[in-house]
Amino acid sequence: MSDKKFYITTPIYYPSDKLHIGHTYSTVQADAVSRYKRMRGYDTFFLTGTDEHGQKIEDKAKEAGVTPKEYVDRIVDGIKDLWKLMNISNDKFIRTTDEYHEKAVQLIFQKMYDKGDIYLGSYEGLYCKPCESFWTETQAVDGKCPDCGRPVIKASEQAYFFRLSKYADKLLEYYDSHPDFFAPSMRQAEMVNNFIKPGLQDLCISRSTFKWGIPVPINPDHVIYVWLDALTNYITALGYGSEDDSLFRKFWPADVHLIGKDITRFHTIYWPAFLMSLDIPLPEKVYCHGWVLLEGGKMSKSKGNVVDPVKLAERYGVDALRYYLLREVGYGADGVFSNENLINRINSDLANDLGNLVSRTVAMADKYFGGTIPAERVKGEPDDDLIALAAKTKTDAENSLDGLCFADSLSAIWKFISRTNKYIDETTPWTLAKEESSIPRLAQVIYNLCESIRIISVLIAPFLPETSDKIRQQLGLGAIEDWEECGVFGKESTYSVQKGEIIFPRIDAEKELAELEALNGANKNDYPHKEEIEGVAKIGIEDFAKVDLRAAKVTACEPVKKAKKLLQLTLSDGTGEPRTVASGIAKWYKPEDLIGKTVVLVSNLKPAVLCGVESQGMILAATAGEDDVKVLFLEGVPEGSKIS
Ligand code: MSP
Repeated sequence: MSDKKFYITTPIYYPSDKLHIGHTYSTVQADAVSRYKRMRGYDTFFLTGTDEHGQKIEDKAKEAGVTPKEYVDRIVDGIKDLWKLMNISNDKFIRTTDEYHEKAVQLIFQKMYDKGDIYLGSYEGLYCKPCESFWTETQAVDGKCPDCGRPVIKASEQAYFFRLSKYADKLLEYYDSHPDFFAPSMRQAEMVNNFIKPGLQDLCISRSTFKWGIPVPINPDHVIYVWLDALTNYITALGYGSEDDSLFRKFWPADVHLIGKDITRFHTIYWPAFLMSLDIPLPEKVYCHGWVLLEGGKMSKSKGNVVDPVKLAERYGVDALRYYLLREVGYGADGVFSNENLINRINSDLANDLGNLVSRTVAMADKYFGGTIPAERVKGEPDDDLIALAAKTKTDAENSLDGLCFADSLSAIWKFISRTNKYIDETTPWTLAKEESSIPRLAQVIYNLCESIRIISVLIAPFLPETSDKIRQQLGLGAIEDWEECGVFGKESTYSVQKGEIIFPRIDAEKELAELEALNGANKNDYPHKEEIEGVAKIGIEDFAKVDLRAAKVTACEPVKKAKKLLQLTLSDGTGEPRTVASGIAKWYKPEDLIGKTVVLVSNLKPAVLCGVESQGMILAATAGEDDVKVLFLEGVPEGSKIS
């Protein structure tokens, strides 16, 4: 048994949403690094699962006319099947409805309560039902959830609170003393500036407005907040709070919590604070990956993209999909998915570069030597170069994988694949085959090609496990014993190859895209588009040109009685007709600050009624700080001037 351990987790997925390639991306990354660590001799524990409580599930079950448990049971098997299909090598699958988990969560709540970190209070806030999150007025953006952008509703209830505020300084100290905790590191500033510095408020951790959750041990009228329930899965899965906590003692703290960037706050603020309250060490690293998005606008609308991983894996094979996701999305960044890109990658990287290398080499070994490479071999010019790059590739692939930079690691491996293909062009085996005297050199060339491919089969194993096996079969090799094999050029004494099927058949892109378009439909609209996630879409100049910006003079201004935030402005915009605009700037400006000033008016905005005032446009202002707004004033610009 190894003394090196590696514990990695994925988020536990909501069974209420259909899992798509974005979720698959998350899990496939965790799988690749788990496989790599196992190959390197780490005692590895890879956890995934489902997050099954909460109001959303309760509502959906009601709609379906079944109990919440029946509802989730129906879906969870499908999620497990998806991971089986994708060759996910998780060591455990946790469901938050598992009895051991529920018991441990109650114990955790009790411990925090006994410590004085939980108290009963009453909660008033803005609630986002789909995210099951409460927000304060300042956190909500224009009455919408800052995470998902959907409308929030005012809600109030008696509830238990966790003293999150008590942990603000401790969290900052921890971040500072653990520079590797955030990956990528830029997420640290984001959390500190957006959440901790403005002041951490105590966290509401119980609900009494619905039933589907783990009861609060000291008051069963309340259920425990889903995020407290869900986050603790990372320790309950290891037996924390049960009779047998040997796995917890062995594997905790987690080496990596791998998550999507949208749930960074929960994992780097709430979760560490809960752990501090429980006197449990904190995870080593929280890796926040980016999102797999569809390009907004034209392409997704006109063509549609198939985003169901089951359909994609059926059409192209599991490894092709794994490869694409791991190669296409950079470290911590968003990636744009399209079926067209996927097909291009399959054709160029998998069918052309890797597939051809294997089939050409095996075919040549077969043709020239009947499958078995003779022992008599002679070295030649480009061999050392190939061997040197093999060694460098191992180091590059390792460094990138250790840093969870999957795309970089694959890119290093593919450089070696290209170099090996180039080696065939340099050595021209077909010419060597013509001269009897060149046969020992030909044997060396084919042998070197087989060695390169063997090394490639080890390097790609964490990413493309099935392909690695298929390649090794064609080379007549057994299972990989050790990762270090990819660092030895010349490991095998000879090769007896066996011709096999084409590993990645080429796809007729045009025909395939047409078929996909016909096949697609249902899932076209339920996948996140780039602009929905990032909040800001890239627009063309033609889109910008649609906005009519005009200079307008404020001729009158007064507060709006029904809304403390609003001012009602009367503007002169050069048309001769006075224009009324309501603007939410009362906190920063008094009417007299504005009268007589010239502002920027969005003049062709559809009118909207705001607290009884019909607003015919809006004026532009900048967010100048966390809680500061500055209206844009113009000087020396006549009323009605067009701004472009
Ligand atoms: N249940 C919570 C996690 C609790 S962990 C203690 C949850 N579930 S989720 O199903 O909504 O999302 C699971 C993960 O999938 C998140 O990390 C999220 O970022 C990720 N993704 C969802 N859509 C995604 C993409 N389009 N692209 C990449 N990852 C995405 O959040």
